[in-house]
Amino acid sequence: MTKYVIRGGKPLYGDVEISGAKNAAVAIIPAALLVDGVCRIENVPQISDVTLLLKILQELGADIRTVDRTTVDIDCTHIRNAKVPDGMARQIRASYYLIGALLGRFGESLVPPPGGCHLGTRPIDQHIKGFVAMGADVDVRGGYIHATARNGRLQGGQVYLDIVSVGATMNIMLAAALAQGMTIIENAAKEPHIVDLANFLNSMGAQIMGAGTDVIKIRGVDRLRGGTYSIIPDQIEAGTYMAAVAAAGGRVRLKNVIPKHMDCISAKLVEMGVEIEEGDDEIVVSRAPEKRLTRTNIKTLPYPGFPTDMQPQIAVALCLAEGTSVVTEGVWDSRYRYVDEIRRLGAEIQVDGKIAVIEGVDRLTGAPVQACDLRAGAAMVIAGLAAQGVTEVDQVQYIERGYEDIVRKLSGIGADIRVVVTPDEEKAQASAG
Ligand code: EPZ
Repeated sequence: MTKYVIRGGKPLYGDVEISGAKNAAVAIIPAALLVDGVCRIENVPQISDVTLLLKILQELGADIRTVDRTTVDIDCTHIRNAKVPDGMARQIRASYYLIGALLGRFGESLVPPPGGCHLGTRPIDQHIKGFVAMGADVDVRGGYIHATARNGRLQGGQVYLDIVSVGATMNIMLAAALAQGMTIIENAAKEPHIVDLANFLNSMGAQIMGAGTDVIKIRGVDRLRGGTYSIIPDQIEAGTYMAAVAAAGGRVRLKNVIPKHMDCISAKLVEMGVEIEEGDDEIVVSRAPEKRLTRTNIKTLPYPGFPTDMQPQIAVALCLAEGTSVVTEGVWDSRYRYVDEIRRLGAEIQVDGKIAVIEGVDRLTGAPVQACDLRAGAAMVIAGLAAQGVTEVDQVQYIERGYEDIVRKLSGIGADIRVVVTPDEEKAQASAG
């Protein structure tokens, strides 16, 4: 297996370039299925979830051309197949966007159930409620989610989401873009990637209004045409580097960010005693290494609340704050699987259901730990950077699902982090090559 070996206790100094947003990219790539012609997508993050989705589109028959490291041309014009092959789709949560996109385009979709990080039960009933409101029948057949538009093409419908769901909001937008008539989503999610997907679709000719508010209206059009679109910067990647500086100390400039998207994270870091300076498209984050962080309480909520995808990373920083902090997970049932691992470094955290109580300690001490999901993995890396001594982070494939070049980016700001491949994997790589 591949591990990251981190010699921690060193403050971080320098610049980091933030990549395109994972959770926007994983919806925008399937959205290319709706487009007649070539979509040029820029600022695509180089992460394994993106690679997997591009491979799935290719298997369906899309013509995909890499223009440069972060730009890809996708042409789905000649796809005639609404059935996604099993296997790859199961490895990724965002494969559920293929349901909305294929259903919108062909009036039918056959997609294996989605996979992804284990964060408790992850139902898709709200997605299905939306498709049904647009005249689809949805059932599970032979291990596939089978959705069909009763009249061959979806009809605009009205859906009130019982829960504010990012995935359901985007999936219903995808399905509705080519539907006949107007679809209205009430109690919609408002995350920056929702607005980004709407902007992508609108730039290709869709008519989506209100993205970023809790009522989104989609007037279906007959056709989307090709065009060029650049994905927004990744709010959570940027927040993760901010949490790293909070925990390890130092001063780091984050380039290619939208400071407004960072407000929900910056506000908490400021409460914790971290300094934040905002520019037009950059943020400088600093904490003097000798100054201890201040405790705070955090509750994760849908945007513009504090993001659940930053909960493990900020919790690690709070492990080193002076005093007792209370973290409440308001989105997922189970997002504290990392706590046992962080305790190995000397953190004092007690979890009761959705609440974690953190008693700040003076120092963490390096230890071997495992990444149990994407953000938990990022939290382990942050803990390793802040801890004295050596931390080995195992199961890093979870981290690489969502963080482009994390080792290079951290090395660039002075972290002592190395990738170590165990002999077994070297052998496997040699034979694969
Ligand atoms: C997206 O997941 C993100 N994933 C998650 O990012 C993120 O944690 C989450 O949104 C919340 O921001 C992708 O974009 C691929 P939801 P999603 O639907 O869409 C419940 C990361 O680390 N719910 O907003 O699956 C659900 O159980 C990840 O990058 C239903 O009950 O999340 C949860 O409690 C992991 N029924 C809540 O809603 C449904 O039909 C919010 O889930 C859908 C959701």
